Amino acid sequence: MPSLFTPLHAAAAEAVALHANVPASELKVDSTPRPELGDLAVGCFAIAKATQQSPAAVAQAIAAAFQPNEWLASATPAGPFVNFRVNRAAAFRWIANAATGGTIVPRVGADETICIDFGSPNIAKHLAYHHIRGTTIGHALMHTWRALGSRVVGINFLGDWGTTYGMVIAAYEKWGAPELTIDALNALYVRFRAEVPEPEAVGRACLARLERGEPEATALWQRFRDVSWAEYQSIYEILGIRYDDLNGESHFWRDAERIVGELRAQGLLVESEGAQVVELPNEKTPILLITKDGTTLYATRDIAAAEYRERTYHPTRSLYVVDRGQATHFRQLFKLLVKMGYEWASRCLHVPYGLVRVGGKKTGTRLGNVVLMRDVFAIAEDEVRAKIAEVNPQLPADVIAKVARDVGIGAVVFANLATQREKDIDFDLDKAVSLDGDSGPYLQYSHARCASILRKAGSRSTAAIDFGKLVTDA
Ligand code: ARG
Repeated sequence: MPSLFTPLHAAAAEAVALHANVPASELKVDSTPRPELGDLAVGCFAIAKATQQSPAAVAQAIAAAFQPNEWLASATPAGPFVNFRVNRAAAFRWIANAATGGTIVPRVGADETICIDFGSPNIAKHLAYHHIRGTTIGHALMHTWRALGSRVVGINFLGDWGTTYGMVIAAYEKWGAPELTIDALNALYVRFRAEVPEPEAVGRACLARLERGEPEATALWQRFRDVSWAEYQSIYEILGIRYDDLNGESHFWRDAERIVGELRAQGLLVESEGAQVVELPNEKTPILLITKDGTTLYATRDIAAAEYRERTYHPTRSLYVVDRGQATHFRQLFKLLVKMGYEWASRCLHVPYGLVRVGGKKTGTRLGNVVLMRDVFAIAEDEVRAKIAEVNPQLPADVIAKVARDVGIGAVVFANLATQREKDIDFDLDKAVSLDGDSGPYLQYSHARCASILRKAGSRSTAAIDFGKLVTDA
């Protein structure tokens, strides 16, 4: 993916490349951390390595040799970076042209088909707040690739198969539930784990009933799945997410027999403590495909799903936006696909992200301090509503309600996107809804101000950016 989105970025990269033996397209151009440092920063690490100098010395030399040009006004060394100040007049001319229908995003992704597996929650549980990270990152990637002209397939690989649901079924058959809600299902699961000896083994036995197609177990599972999906959909609605492909894990377990047969024929499958596994190069543990009870596993279903995605969409990249904790799973999965002889395995990529902590603690169902995604949205909305009531009490109630919702949800989404993807984050609601600084409300405020300037200038702005219109063939 190129980082040279504007001629300003391209000019900064070229100004550095001119003095080094690297192509401009390989240099990363970022914004500087603070405006007083300049506008665009280019790191000199790769050049320093190639020329065996220190990055700071390289940055000094490049800044000293810099000559102002059409796009760039000055260059200053800043440690290992060269910071450029752009030529204001040229930059504004370019932005004005782009905003009125000229080129803003080149269609560099036009030949690509990108599968993006993101969100993909496990059923019978609420969407907890930690799910928001993968959900918003995946959704942002969908927008980004679409803006670059690619065909994008958003996939929700619902976690709707496995031992867990065997346990929920067994628990339901044992204790029942007054009402079938996610809360009730989750409570059944928690109680089952706490009270039943060897819950996993009982769960696997129940999963085997599902994998035999037993009607009672299947009907129960279907109800659990429907209840869960209805809840998730209402949240995707809030976030404006539309998936293109909803084939979850339950869609793929039937392929296990064929896959395992193939692996056996290829001589790759070995038995280990009754389970069927494959040994992988440079891995301490093998990848588990069939349990000793003959049921399928997460990895088995992921192999089938990967094959299906390749067959159905022929993606140029197949992205898995999943938390960093699953790095081993994906590394092993992709190694196995290579072993199976699939050349397309190299196009599969795990896009990991860090944990979300609320109040400094890892959130998760097991830890019992679940903060529900829905609740976080509601709280953010309330906070924003209170702020509006303070500064703008004369606004009509319906306007306040709409702004509070849009700004509140935007605040939460932005807080998750504004941090480095692989870093853990501490979710701080006060910071997220703050009106100044690096926040969603500030971004929306800036947009509203820009729109108002455009209106005063007799121009028109739209609330929704139509990326389709901004994309042209460059
Ligand atoms: N359901 C999994 C979880 O909640 C995530 C699935 C990610 N996608 C995949 N193809 N394995 O942890």
